[in-house]
Amino acid sequence: EDLGIVAVGFSGGQGKAGVDGGPAALIESGLLDQIRDELGYNMYGHDAVHTYKDFVPAHDPPFRNMKNPRAVSAVTRRIAEQVHSHAKEGRLVLTLGGDHSIAIGTIAGTAKAVRERLGREMAVIWVDAHADINTPETSGSGNIHGMPVSFLTGLAREDNEDYFGWLEDEHRISVRKLVYIGLRDVDAGEKRILRENGIKAFSMYDIDKHGIGRVMEMALAHIGSDTPIHLSFDVDALDPMWAPSTGTPVRGGLTLREGDYICECVHETGSLVAVDLVEVNPSLATNELQAQETVRAGCSIVRCALGESLL
Ligand code: ARG
Ligand code: MN
Ligand code: MN
Ligand code: MN
Repeated sequence: EDLGIVAVGFSGGQGKAGVDGGPAALIESGLLDQIRDELGYNMYGHDAVHTYKDFVPAHDPPFRNMKNPRAVSAVTRRIAEQVHSHAKEGRLVLTLGGDHSIAIGTIAGTAKAVRERLGREMAVIWVDAHADINTPETSGSGNIHGMPVSFLTGLAREDNEDYFGWLEDEHRISVRKLVYIGLRDVDAGEKRILRENGIKAFSMYDIDKHGIGRVMEMALAHIGSDTPIHLSFDVDALDPMWAPSTGTPVRGGLTLREGDYICECVHETGSLVAVDLVEVNPSLATNELQAQETVRAGCSIVRCALGESLL
């Protein structure tokens, strides 16, 4: 099977330095060798970590409360092209981040390719402590990594192409085909958005109540069989015990096994078209072991999504 890889060294969707070093840390720890040797994929695009320097403008003042809006818009537009170019060849696409704003590009790229190739609307499984569905107006932080889902669903819109106006209907996903897993730190405005739009969400409460096995059954039943799936996995969905080295850690999260299980289930559907692994920030660790553990957890998540099984 063919795998397109996009390594995105970008941090402009939030304020902490170092998340742009996530892809290099994952790759240096051997992730791509594991994918090639143990999972047997033919890899494309694995030779570079992209920095998008030419896409980041010198002057980039806030717009509609968004920080670094021109940079994030231009970089995600380029990522959408990169992901689309893999997906249109029928490759499974793996994107390594970078902060979660990059999902504006990854999902836009796969949604477009899935429409072109299959004439279908794809589903998104968003695994995260956070809903990342603030609009520029509801966001308290102005950080765009807390907004990608609002732009991708069309809940947030902008005409100017320098500020995400390049997003067209072909890039967007339906709120009905979106499922969240792992939520536990959702802003008040986001809770209202989820409720008003009837968006399917399994919080940590639901995982405690039903168990991850039942939650995955319900999540996949909501999507429906034979629907192409884009899995966007924020490493902060995992409990900080497993993934401490990330920009916005929240206690009370998924165990590593629960995270791996989510990915195993999604892989087993046979409908996976793309995977994002984001928000690994090796420089935030208070010691080297914490950084290593976070990278190791990220590698495990990716391998499970790509089909590694225990037996
Ligand atoms: N809800 C907060 C915000 O909008 C936190 C978002 C965290 N997002 C993430 N991708 N880690 O700023
Ligand atoms: Mn998060
Ligand atoms: Mn996120
Ligand atoms: Mn398989």
